[in-house]
Amino acid sequence: MPSDLPNATSFADALLAWAAAHPREMPWKNEKNPYLIWLSEIILQQTRVEQGLPYFLRFREKYPTIVLLAAAPPDEVMKLWEGLGYYSRARNLHATAQYVSEYLGGIFPTDFEQIRALKGVGDYTAAAVASFAFDLPHAVVDGNVYRVLARIFGIETPIDSSAGKKQFADLAQQLLDKAPPARYNQAIMDFGATHCTPAAPRCAGCPFAEQCRAFLEKKIAQLPVKSKKLVRRERFFNFFLIYKENKIWIQRREQKDIWQGLYQFPLIETENLVSRLEMVKNKIFNTFFDKKKYIILRHSAPMRHQLTHQTIIAVFWEIEATDALALPESFVCVARKNLSDFAFPRLIDQYLEQKEQKTLLLDLD
Ligand code: ADE
Repeated sequence: MPSDLPNATSFADALLAWAAAHPREMPWKNEKNPYLIWLSEIILQQTRVEQGLPYFLRFREKYPTIVLLAAAPPDEVMKLWEGLGYYSRARNLHATAQYVSEYLGGIFPTDFEQIRALKGVGDYTAAAVASFAFDLPHAVVDGNVYRVLARIFGIETPIDSSAGKKQFADLAQQLLDKAPPARYNQAIMDFGATHCTPAAPRCAGCPFAEQCRAFLEKKIAQLPVKSKKLVRRERFFNFFLIYKENKIWIQRREQKDIWQGLYQFPLIETENLVSRLEMVKNKIFNTFFDKKKYIILRHSAPMRHQLTHQTIIAVFWEIEATDALALPESFVCVARKNLSDFAFPRLIDQYLEQKEQKTLLLDLD
C-alpha cells in the first residue's frame, strides 16, 4: 500500500532536509542584492546553470550595479550575452535596468507586484527575486517544479493548459506556506535540477520514494504531461560574406524576429535550399550585385541550427566584390579583423570558427 501523499509541512521538511544534505554552491546562493538575483534569474531562464554561470560572473564583474548596466551601450550588452540565446532576455534586461535607473532612482523594487511588472519578468522570476531577496512568500513554478510536483503528487493535468497552470501554482503556493520562502524555493529548484531530473531521476534513495505516485505507479517517464506537441518551422537562410579587399559587410537585425539586435551577414531568406544557378537569378541577389561585379568564391554545406520553435538551415556564400556595390544603407562595411567586436548569433559564430580552423589547417600545409 502506498503511504499518503505528503502534506505541506512534511513535504517542506523533507525537501529542506534533502537540500541541507546536498549543498549546491552557486554564486547567487544566499545573495540578498535584488539586482544580482534578478540578473542571475534572467540569465537562467531557459538556460542550464553550467551554461549560465560564466555569463553571470562576467555581467556581475562588468556591471556591479544596475545603474552601470543601464548606462552600457546596447551593443556592449549584446556582445556580453553572445552565445546565450533567447536574445529578447538581453534587450529586456537592459530596458529594465534603464527603467529602474531612471524612474526608480536605481533602487530595485521591493514588492512582488512591482517586480512582476518589470519587462522580461514573469510569475516565475518575480517569485524567485521576491523570495530570494526579500523572503516574500511567493512559490516559484518552473519546469523543475512542474516535474517534481507532477511526479510526487501524480498530477496528470497538462502543464501547458490553463487548468494545469492554476492547479500547479495553487499546490506550489500551499506547499510553501509553512516554509521559509527563500530556502524552500531554492531547495525545490535544486531538487528538480539535480535529483528529480527529466531522464534517469535518482529514485533509489529519494526521500519521497514511498509517497511518489509516479515512482509507485511506474509513470516517471509520463509525468509531467504536456498537451501540445512542439512544431518547428523550417527556414532557409542564405548569408553572404561579401569581401572587398580586407573589408566585409554586416547588418544589425532590427526586425521583430529571432536574433533582434544581433549582427549578421547580408541575408536572403528563401523557400528552399537554392543552387548557385538559382541564386544568381534571385531578384534580391541581383539588387545587391550588378552583373559581373562579383565572383562567387564558394558556398558552405547547409548548416542546421535548432531553435525552440524554428529550425534554421543556413548556407554561407563567400563572394568577392570586384566593383562598387549598391548595397542598402543598413549594411555596414567593417574591417574583417574587427568582426569579433560585434555580437552574432551562435550559428554565425560557429560557421566563422569552422572557417578559421580550416584556414589555419590550409596555412599549415
Ligand atoms: N534556475 C533558475 N534559477 C535558479 C536558481 N536560483 N538556482 C538554481 N537553478 C536555477
